[in-house]
Amino acid sequence: MNTSALAHFWALIPAAGVGSRMRADRPKQYLELAGETIVEHSLACFLDHPQLQGVVVSLAFDDPYWPTLACAQDPRIARAEGGRERADSVLNGLQRLAELGAQESDWVLVHDAARPNLARSDLDLLLAELADDPVGGLLAVPVRDTLKRAGSDGRVQQTVDRSLIWQAYTPQMFRLGLLRRALAQALAAEVAITDEASAVEWLGQAPRLIEGRADNLKVTRPEDLDWLRQHWAGRR
Ligand code: CTP
Ligand code: MG
Repeated sequence: MNTSALAHFWALIPAAGVGSRMRADRPKQYLELAGETIVEHSLACFLDHPQLQGVVVSLAFDDPYWPTLACAQDPRIARAEGGRERADSVLNGLQRLAELGAQESDWVLVHDAARPNLARSDLDLLLAELADDPVGGLLAVPVRDTLKRAGSDGRVQQTVDRSLIWQAYTPQMFRLGLLRRALAQALAAEVAITDEASAVEWLGQAPRLIEGRADNLKVTRPEDLDWLRQHWAGRR
């Protein structure tokens, strides 16, 4: 793929979560994977990209781990303050990007700090597929397993048709102006939003699903990190 034809973009990495489901001694983005922290791997794919304009990382205000990383000195990376929910962290990050000179019509790619296995081919696919899209979109993966709806008694009520169900991954790619408006209005209305796309959907727009690699997984539970460590060891 000719990357010079791809649009320029900004990256925004929400990294202010505590990682409660991981049950580790620190937030999961600071756990080690193949000699570096997870957040460093999550950043690497962007920092290596020639069309990157800059990065904002949203951090907990008392985060003691970030300043110890080499990338904290990288002039391309600025900090924003994290918020109560992921959406607050992202909204603060968008504000910071605007202060750095990002324009309303600039593309912003929001990517979880806990998603360290993003392939360059997926990043370029997203940038290429959405370059002229009026809304934006996200990497996603069609669900593979049969889906069951459970009753409160823990028994199956129904098997759900999975043919149209996708798992939402990141990066999620939107123009700064649209995303900021969507998040601000959704937060003000107190609607539940777990990713950027759901805020944009709430505005009545339909983000595009771009099929990505299933191994771009988010480290959520201990076994996810076990899996990644084995996967990466096998790759070397
Ligand atoms: N995140 C954030 N600000 C928050 C909550 C989450 O920046 N207030 C970030 C996390 O650091 C992570 C991404 O959003 O990179 C995805 O969230 P999730 O996987 O839910 O991470 P945590 O909230 O840290 O984990 P948990 O829900 O298990 O506590
Ligand atoms: Mg969370």
